[in-house]
Amino acid sequence: MNRENIVILDFGGQYNQLIARRVRECRVYCEVKPYTTPLSEIMAMGPSGIIFTGGPASVYADGSPKVDPELFDQGIPILGICYGCQLMAQELGGSVVPAESDTAREYGKTDTVFDLSCALFSGIPEKSITWMSHGDYMERVPAGFKTVAWSKACPTAAIADESRGFFGVQYHPEVNHTQYGTDMIRNFLYNVCKVKGDWTMGNYKDTAISDIREKVGSGKVLLALSGGVDSSVAAALLAEAVGSQLTCVFVDHGLMRKNEGNEVEAAFKKWDINFVRVNAETRFLLKLAGVTEPERKRKIIGEEFIRVFEEEAKKIGAVDYLAQGTIYPDVIESGAGDAAVIKSHHNVGGLPDFVDFREIIEPLRLLFKDEVRQLGRELGLPEYLVTRQPFPGPGLAIRILGDITKEKADTLREADAIFREEIAKAGEDKNLSQYFAVLTNMRSVGVMGDGRTYDHALALRAVVTDDFMTADWARIPYEVLDKISTRIVNEVPGINRIVYDITSKPPATVEFE
Ligand code: XMP
Repeated sequence: MNRENIVILDFGGQYNQLIARRVRECRVYCEVKPYTTPLSEIMAMGPSGIIFTGGPASVYADGSPKVDPELFDQGIPILGICYGCQLMAQELGGSVVPAESDTAREYGKTDTVFDLSCALFSGIPEKSITWMSHGDYMERVPAGFKTVAWSKACPTAAIADESRGFFGVQYHPEVNHTQYGTDMIRNFLYNVCKVKGDWTMGNYKDTAISDIREKVGSGKVLLALSGGVDSSVAAALLAEAVGSQLTCVFVDHGLMRKNEGNEVEAAFKKWDINFVRVNAETRFLLKLAGVTEPERKRKIIGEEFIRVFEEEAKKIGAVDYLAQGTIYPDVIESGAGDAAVIKSHHNVGGLPDFVDFREIIEPLRLLFKDEVRQLGRELGLPEYLVTRQPFPGPGLAIRILGDITKEKADTLREADAIFREEIAKAGEDKNLSQYFAVLTNMRSVGVMGDGRTYDHALALRAVVTDDFMTADWARIPYEVLDKISTRIVNEVPGINRIVYDITSKPPATVEFE
């Protein structure tokens, strides 16, 4: 497959995925590779340009990450960001030193002035804000380079050797705080690397389908459908590619949102595939009966999912391929650090041990979430399915605090549906990253008509976030909250009080359990 490619060499910076997302947003395909990738491998990818990411090290420290110096002799444009910029400066004969005073170190939003004759800055204003995060600075720029941006503390905020197509920026163009950051990345891609911009999900769909057909031949493919966006889009892509050679086992654990299971099933009617829906609600509820501890709930659901799938897989017998909906952020993140486990996330990663298959295929392995959604649209999945907000694998089990019963799940489903309906009606859904109702295990006294009630309190949660690592609680207008509250207590038996969660993450998490 001959598509334009930008190679992003990863030096360990925290925004590296964002760089890749920005490049893709500019309609250019890119891949993130470790900085240790051998030169021959990089060149074999046929890159139109290379981006060096930021990273936590200092270029002058012993053992700091480096690239093969011959990379600079390949005639390929390079954009260095933060650490990547300093690395390029040092390797090409400049010098990088620690900033001596606090004033020369820069963190956060910084007023920056640009030389607009530089190809990187074409079409942007002369002054704007960039996001800096560096304690080192370039004392001397390498021969052939000139300084093309300045800030108060930093006499060399960006450098360029336009004849070789080499650019370095001390700030982070990939983060939203850098006002014209995406324009600068686009300028690098189109003005310097001279790409055409051939990366669209329409194109990807066609190539992916022919690649899958070629690989699978007349083989059999099995996919475990959880009903989420990723596994649904993977299933649709395979359905389009291999039709009746595909078996989808949709394990409905009975803890999805209102009507969701039926909607997922209906979306696959248009393909001639072997669609097996296992309605396992009773089975899951039985296993979960009396369980109150969140991590136990997750574990039980994860294991039971595998058990149900295994039983179905046995009925089907040996298959050639087991398909999974792994997406690019999982690929980039896998093997990255061992941060403390706050919540174990249930996915279908444990399946391979239980299925008789030859090879795994992961047709979404190269795609970011936004791209997965776009591909879903291209494949004709309904909009409401592809734009769905994130929904945790264990579903409503972690939104019913304490023990789970069918009655509680039904109550929560009704309340959650009203919340979502009113948010959409008010046009607030576009402003929110995730929003849902939680059935608390608190009961309190209320009054309805002339009678006393003693019912559940329902919590509403709505957050705004870019990455779900941190999140702010959403400022939903009071009138909208009022309408939601009135409707829920009037329409859903068993709920007599509504509270709105006003904690951010951290210290709270998005989900309650
Ligand atoms: P937390 O609650 O950790 O949520 O702040 C961050 C994001 O992760 C989702 N989440 C899960 N997703 N299995 C999943 O597949 C889980 O067990 C799980 N727990 C939380 C949550 O909905 C939010 O989008």
